[in-house]
Amino acid sequence: MAAQDTAGSLARLKERLDEAVHVGEARAAAKQHARGRLTARERIERLLDEGSFVELDALARGSLGYGDGVVTGYGTVDGRQVCVFSQDFTVAGGSLGEVYGQKICKVMDLAVRNGCPIVGINEGAGARIQEGVVSLGLYGEIFRRNIRASGVIPQISLIMGACAGGHVYSPALTDFTIMVDEQSHMFVTGPDVIRTVTGEDVTFEDLGGGRVHNSRSGVAHYLASDEDDALDYARALLAYLPDNNLDEPSYPHVEVDLADDPALDRLVPDSPNQPYDMLEVIGALVDDGEFLEVQELFAPNIVVGFGRVEGRPVGVVANQPLRLAGTLDIDASEKAARFVRTCDAFSIPVLTLVDVPGFLPGTGQEWNGIIRRGAKLLYAYGEATVPLVTVITRKAYGGAYDVMGSKHLGADVNLAWSTAQIAVMGAQGAVNILHRKRLAAADDPDALRAELVAEYDDTLATPYLAAERGYVDKVIRPGETRREVVRALRLLRGKRDVLPPKKHGNIPL
Ligand code: HXC
Repeated sequence: MAAQDTAGSLARLKERLDEAVHVGEARAAAKQHARGRLTARERIERLLDEGSFVELDALARGSLGYGDGVVTGYGTVDGRQVCVFSQDFTVAGGSLGEVYGQKICKVMDLAVRNGCPIVGINEGAGARIQEGVVSLGLYGEIFRRNIRASGVIPQISLIMGACAGGHVYSPALTDFTIMVDEQSHMFVTGPDVIRTVTGEDVTFEDLGGGRVHNSRSGVAHYLASDEDDALDYARALLAYLPDNNLDEPSYPHVEVDLADDPALDRLVPDSPNQPYDMLEVIGALVDDGEFLEVQELFAPNIVVGFGRVEGRPVGVVANQPLRLAGTLDIDASEKAARFVRTCDAFSIPVLTLVDVPGFLPGTGQEWNGIIRRGAKLLYAYGEATVPLVTVITRKAYGGAYDVMGSKHLGADVNLAWSTAQIAVMGAQGAVNILHRKRLAAADDPDALRAELVAEYDDTLATPYLAAERGYVDKVIRPGETRREVVRALRLLRGKRDVLPPKKHGNIPL
């Protein structure tokens, strides 16, 4: 058999692929399975539709041989094209070398050029020490691509193990970061360096585990129970997102029951201090009650996530009275601002549900910049050009009234439940300020206060002052909300709104 004939060439191809893919894969499988983890290729195969993966650059050769520690390519998720890369921890701890970095850049470029989402499956030890500045340079190349692709194609990062040093910043620049409980770690400097520099003793888990980044730092958007759960969540997110910012996806129409929902009429408790679960309202408004929450464990006083109305994706932002009475704090503001901008970038309408007593008071909030950081949510709503529908269920007090998708910031349709209390502040606080002298002089201050509170609630803390001025378009019974939201979103399908020409805005970061 001559080396140059077809049979010879086939044999040579097989030999190369065996060496590049199969031998490496078998070695990786032995190591990863022993750690209870999937290999880089297995992760891709579970993410994509069966048999759809097309590997690229399997024969690219780096300092550590074929592949250089990362698998790249494309395939489909629910029939839609997706580009993907997946890092192989069994090759030098998944550290980033020259060819490894070039392969990721190449598949990112492919995703942007073709307007399809990119999913990065990460497990790696940061810069490959032996390759020095070349590795650092390629990180920079990847970051720049993440930044340029931001708002153009959806970018999703899965963190399947340790991501150290440079490995954390590409995920941080993407739209969504998914971590696996007790398996994923992200940190810029690890426990050893921290111990040396500051003397602080901290475990990997406490420093940068999935739970920490989901509940404390806000770096992650979902805490998966295992790798399959993480991959399922990524697929679920993709189902709500378009392929790119110019895509106008067509969604199969879903027939929605527009009849009254009496359960909503009973939801808001008579006492303004008693909470209720805003998830019940969301569940009653989205198709089949299906809601994909984002950042569930971070700032739970605000709920964000995706649902569908008549089959079309909507982003939901909702105060949660069950947590911190639904107040806005720094974390809630940043969480919601980021989500509103994600929706706006990808033309997903935003449905805002408001029950907010105000900003969370305290030096902790003020000193950490609630002014600057709360302003992000104002900014996000104010610059959004997607359809904005807002429903005030109960409290909309003070500055938080303005922030939460008010008409004044550009919302298109504003609805208020008959139970809405739209005012500068709650009755107790207002009465104490307005009637301090009368209360001090009263024989029975408690009785007088109760009387004044009732009067305030009847006259000022209602939806009607706002309705009289058109700040809310319609005061509705809670039970008719789904019908009204469906109608509003139908109207807004044709919405066209553009920002004034500018290089870019200057969101208070
Ligand atoms: C080359 C590396 C490596 C690295 C680990 N390895 N890190 N090789 N460059 N950065 C190799 C190890 O030598 C080992 O090889 C294999 O990968 C597995 O590593 P272990 O330490 O045995 O694994 P484990 O105990 O699971 O710990 C994983 C880890 C740890 C937590 C990620 O390896 C670690 O802390 N690595 C260093 C992280 C780091 O400091 N990276 C550089 C950051 S600077 P053998 O042959 O024994 O299997 C950076 C700058 C970029 O990234 C900045 C851009 C903004």
